[in-house]
Amino acid sequence: MSNMFIEDILGGDRVPRYLQSSIDEVLNRSDIVDIVSSYVTLKRNGSDYVGLCPFHREKTPSFHISSDKQLYYCFGCGSGGNIIDFIGKIENLDFIDTIKFLAERAGITLEEEVYSPEIQARHDKRETILKMNKLAAKRFVANLSLDDAKGAREYAFSRGLNRDTIRAFGIGFARDSWSDLVDYLKENGFRNDDIVEAGLAAKNEKGHIYDKFRNRLMFPIIDVRGNVIAFSGRALDDSPAKYMNSPETPVFHKGNNIFALNIAKQHSASDGLILVEGNMDAVSLHAFGFPNAVAGLGTALTDQQAQLLKRYSPLVYICYDNDEAGAKACEKAIDILSSAGIKLKVLSYKDAKDPDEYLKKKGAESFKKVISSALSATEYKILNIRKKYNLVETADKVEFINAAAEILATNPNAVEREIYIKRIASETDISTDSITAQVNRVIYDKNRKTYKKAERVVQSTKPASYQRRGDATPTASYKSERMLLNVMFFNLSAYKLAKSQITATELSDESHRQLFTEIVKFKETNESADAGAFLVSIPEVLKPTAAQILYKEYVGDAQATVTDNIEKIKKQNFNETINRLAKEGKVDEINELIKAKHMGGVIK
Ligand code: UTP
Ligand code: MN
Repeated sequence: MSNMFIEDILGGDRVPRYLQSSIDEVLNRSDIVDIVSSYVTLKRNGSDYVGLCPFHREKTPSFHISSDKQLYYCFGCGSGGNIIDFIGKIENLDFIDTIKFLAERAGITLEEEVYSPEIQARHDKRETILKMNKLAAKRFVANLSLDDAKGAREYAFSRGLNRDTIRAFGIGFARDSWSDLVDYLKENGFRNDDIVEAGLAAKNEKGHIYDKFRNRLMFPIIDVRGNVIAFSGRALDDSPAKYMNSPETPVFHKGNNIFALNIAKQHSASDGLILVEGNMDAVSLHAFGFPNAVAGLGTALTDQQAQLLKRYSPLVYICYDNDEAGAKACEKAIDILSSAGIKLKVLSYKDAKDPDEYLKKKGAESFKKVISSALSATEYKILNIRKKYNLVETADKVEFINAAAEILATNPNAVEREIYIKRIASETDISTDSITAQVNRVIYDKNRKTYKKAERVVQSTKPASYQRRGDATPTASYKSERMLLNVMFFNLSAYKLAKSQITATELSDESHRQLFTEIVKFKETNESADAGAFLVSIPEVLKPTAAQILYKEYVGDAQATVTDNIEKIKKQNFNETINRLAKEGKVDEINELIKAKHMGGVIK
């Protein structure tokens, strides 16, 4: 084992900071349409450009670029941003590397920022530690070839780590010595205090420093830029201090980093990420051909880690240990990932305590099946609670359905809810209607506040057409009409319900009337709710309003939204008709109308 390869997985020494004016210049000289068209075939559509989204699979183009705004937005997967976001995402680059990439393309020389002495000192400290870590990592790798690393090598092989994996991860060995690394670092000019601050050595009472990692298999923790930010050392036997990790240092914050993401990020865009608990599980998955595996560094998943995962992957498979602690951690991870807005699935497996053991027992093919039968968060949670109940007992059935309803109520997707309700119905022999009623009750009770908030989001923006025309106020039914159009578009059964109960002419706003007609036209040939495809199909003047109304999918009970808003619209129309007739003095007609209403007649 030579130590040359570790260079391949490590990044450069220093992270530059560029002047804002330099960054602005890069932005000014990077036209989004020009650059994106080298990745995506774009078609002009008014002042927009449209193409197939490079970030998700699709057949009809949902990917829009506004050349005026220099922004892109995909109505299919919701990704959007400026050229920096685009390049960062498509080339898998962080901010700095994206700026470099664009600068090079535009032929601009970037100028670096000049710092205050304090900030400069902090940067220097970080740089020193990163340099030292890199050197230490190389030392550990070299150590693994020495005679006294025989035990470590045997241990590594016994855990199924082959040479390729060892190389890919830069796995090494901390010798059974108090000064091997300290001496080496000192020889290379590093100071005692810095070595301690890097977490590589500890200081005794006499002020003497000594190696912290001794006789351990060493895993460097490498960030997405290729910096060695910390180490995790595995004991070579099952001693109680199984892992020793670097402490928090100026370059390492446990809760901000993910193990193996430096490798997995190259595979995550297409395959998603597999999130496991143990470093060993991640390494093992890589060895078995799943290079998209990452691990959470032994902490409960944090929001920052979720954000990091989100940056690199559209989908995360949670694959935690198969014990009670693992299940608990999994539920927690589900919550954190979903509130970060990440699509997630859960891998459920049998006959092994963790993914590492599973692979060794059953092999990669079998694990592929685990992935292809990944559970949705809802499915997983229901499966988990079902274990607690004996479904032949009536009391258990009731409790199970109540508990399942609580879970289903948190799933915003009505179609998914229906699928699970059907499954539970057949399992418990309770009608889908009763279960649906229970779920809806929970939805109403628990989420009333959330719905009010979501309603405000959809209703809040004034249409561009009003702003442009400077109209005083939208019509009274304006908000209801927008809600209605939103759910009609995104929810097929809501659409059908709405179409059977109201016509375009009953809407008060002209662009709403036109959109209603356009939606009906679109749905005749196309049952999908692809906002991008819809936008392409409608007249230019309607686009801003359509984009605004369809920008966010309203999450809530679509059927109830239809019913409520149609009722409001009709009531408003009714009142306006009465007012008009009153002004015209047509008392008989008013009485006629009121009578019809009380008899339950339809008001047109
Ligand atoms: P595990 O005990 O599941 O570790 O802890 P593992 O990676 O599967 O290890 P093996 O297979 O027993 O060798 C999960 C993670 O928790 C952290 C590590 O990051 C570990 O990967 N941990 C665990 C520690 O930091 N210290 C410990 O003593 C144990
Ligand atoms: Mn484990």
